Amino acid sequence: MTNLDHGATTVSSRALGVLLDSWRASSAPGYLALADRIRLLVLDGRLPVGTRLPSERDLCAHLGVSRTTVAAAYAALRDSGHVDSVRGSGSVVRLPARASVPRPTTTEGLLDLTKAALPAVDGIAEAAQRAAGRLGAYLDDPGYDPVGRPVLREAIAERYRRRGLETSADQIVVTLGAQHAIALLARVLVSRGDRAVVEAPGYPHAFEALRGAGARLVPVSVTVDDGWDEAALMQTLRRTSPPVAYLMPDFHNPTGATMPADQRVRVLEAAAAEGTVVIADETMAEMAIDGVEPGSRVERPLPMAAYGRAVTIGSVGKSLWGGLRIGWIRAERPLVDRLVRARSAGDLGTPVLEQLVVAELLGDFDRVLEARAGHLRRGRDRVVHGLREAFPSWQVPSPAGGLTTWVGLGAPVSSQLTLAARREGLLLAAGPVFGIDGAFERFLRVPFSYADSDTDRALAALRAAWDGVDGVQAPASPLLAEVV
Ligand SMILES: Cc1ncc(COP(=O)(O)O)c(C=O)c1O
Repeated sequence: MTNLDHGATTVSSRALGVLLDSWRASSAPGYLALADRIRLLVLDGRLPVGTRLPSERDLCAHLGVSRTTVAAAYAALRDSGHVDSVRGSGSVVRLPARASVPRPTTTEGLLDLTKAALPAVDGIAEAAQRAAGRLGAYLDDPGYDPVGRPVLREAIAERYRRRGLETSADQIVVTLGAQHAIALLARVLVSRGDRAVVEAPGYPHAFEALRGAGARLVPVSVTVDDGWDEAALMQTLRRTSPPVAYLMPDFHNPTGATMPADQRVRVLEAAAAEGTVVIADETMAEMAIDGVEPGSRVERPLPMAAYGRAVTIGSVGKSLWGGLRIGWIRAERPLVDRLVRARSAGDLGTPVLEQLVVAELLGDFDRVLEARAGHLRRGRDRVVHGLREAFPSWQVPSPAGGLTTWVGLGAPVSSQLTLAARREGLLLAAGPVFGIDGAFERFLRVPFSYADSDTDRALAALRAAWDGVDGVQAPASPLLAEVV
């Protein structure tokens, strides 16, 4: 069963024509070439499930082919389960039976690269000792803290001000990491059956949290090269007036894309017009790799909420350490109050000592981030170089920030490859983990946040795994492989 809101978006003939690009280049008969190209767009999530295709008449006129060609292509897509013809709604994108994505049952003895995460920054133990020294001042009250200690709320607000966004401490709710923040916002803002715009590919635990709150997900495509499909995003907002849109505007996980400032303005305007609350997950926002050194700074967009109304999620999970489990929500006061009231159903507050540790480290945050950028730059360059050399047929982007590269494999074999990698002792999350209902079989997320020795082990394992996948990697028609 899916939680998708089918039929939310229509792709026009013109927009589909752009996506189809040089579909005729193949030597296959016209209708098969057209069907294959549309199928690829579906598998890659560029035509999200639920998208309505143009009518046969519109598309044949636009492409300059016969109506029979388009009708036969749509029929082939129906036969392979990639399109449904819905009376009154035309042809709607589907995926064949849900691909079950391999998930590890045990990770013992395996190199686990399913997480885009870093070890703790230097200096955490010392910060914890200093924080413990301050704890005495907090021990007289019961310690249940659903909103956050003032010292940390102020330090987080100060960080926003330094990034160019006026913020006061009472706009901050400290949470148990960003994941808790997503789930809490979903619980407060989403009612059962509501639509929620998400990105495809996107962050899978956000999908889970939104679905858990009863949302029907409406995906909008994001790619490495073109970022957000703005036309589709605007149309989806207009058509569905969703209560929430969950976006990762900075170093989007997994593509690494960053939304430009002018697009932020347009998206927030369109969302405001529909009464949609934009949840901007900025967990990765401070993980810039390029342009962070003093002499070579690159202007980055301001935090999303500087351009319009947005609720922001932040975390020190990447910048300091995931093990601290400290994140936060930045929102206007009325929403802050609702979040704090709603919180007791799930938890009764954030641990005090961890908050004090983070407050210590935020005092020296620029230095911390520079060290992080140096580590990530080395990791990225090693992974990107290693992958490009070992797999010349892959598209390996070198993102300007974040912790991962979203690799194009050139064939829909991501699940097969990750299964084969597991046999070589390496765990990776297959592309479909980041999509909805099986898309993104042609992609693989590879983190570059790990130690050199782990990276080298992972590259060797991937090479061995790819040899095993080779024989089946070029199906005549890129159907979803039935191997997962
Ligand atoms: C985009 C995004 N949001 C939220 C999280 C969860 O972060 P935290 O560890 O702070 O719960 C992650 C972790 O990978 C993430 O990538």
